[in-house]
Amino acid sequence: MSVLMRRAKVHDLDAIMRLERATFVNDAWPEEAMRREIESPHGYYLVAVDDEEEDPERRLLGYAGLLAPADGGQGDIQTIAVAPFARGIGLGRGLMHALITQARRRHVAELFLEVRADNPIARALYASLGFVEIGVRRGYYQPDGVDAISMRLTVPAAVTRPAESGVAAGRDDPAAAARRAAGERGGA
Ligand SMILES: CC(C)(COP(=O)(O)OP(=O)(O)OC[C@H]1O[C@@H](n2cnc3c(N)ncnc32)[C@H](O)[C@@H]1OP(=O)(O)O)[C@@H](O)C(=O)NCCC(=O)NCCS
Repeated sequence: MSVLMRRAKVHDLDAIMRLERATFVNDAWPEEAMRREIESPHGYYLVAVDDEEEDPERRLLGYAGLLAPADGGQGDIQTIAVAPFARGIGLGRGLMHALITQARRRHVAELFLEVRADNPIARALYASLGFVEIGVRRGYYQPDGVDAISMRLTVPAAVTRPAESGVAAGRDDPAAAARRAAGERGGA
């Protein structure tokens, strides 16, 4: 396996949607929503691909997306998924590190995300990166009726290792909340 991480392009959409639908069975984004995210000037979507793999079904290893206006302030981790056969080898963490680095470049001070309460693996990943739980949105994920845990990261100045992440409590911002509420899945 030869892993390459790069910006997602519209020609990645088919493969991304295959993994999206297989991963988020009951709440996959519509293709048009994913396309808008990838093309948005405020978006920053990455794919991890196996450069040596010829089977198109196994070429895409994962994807992840950030929404953050270039003028700074607050941003959202919109989604992340790693193909089942490529999990547990650090790709999710690598994608998250890259999004956080990009958020810092865009002068984002705080990053937000939502995660299903019944997803301990993703919650452990986010916590290890310095995200802290700030609230619960009851029954947010439909049709499953599963709660969303809202998490926030104070974007660290230079490194993303948890020990230096500078996690701090802060005030939520109504504009960011409205932006998050407008997202189809509203978070990773
Ligand atoms: C969540 C997800 C992206 C993690 O990707 P990954 O490439 O497997 O993760 P990594 O190998 O980088 O591991 C990162 C951390 O995740 C957690 N983790 C990963 N696999 C785990 C497992 N089997 N059991 C418990 N924790 C696990 C650990 O905290 C791990 O850190 P560590 O290796 O230092 O212990 C992946 O499991 C996935 O795509 N899940 C389905 C989609 C999803 O849940 N997306 C998140 C929506 S909010």
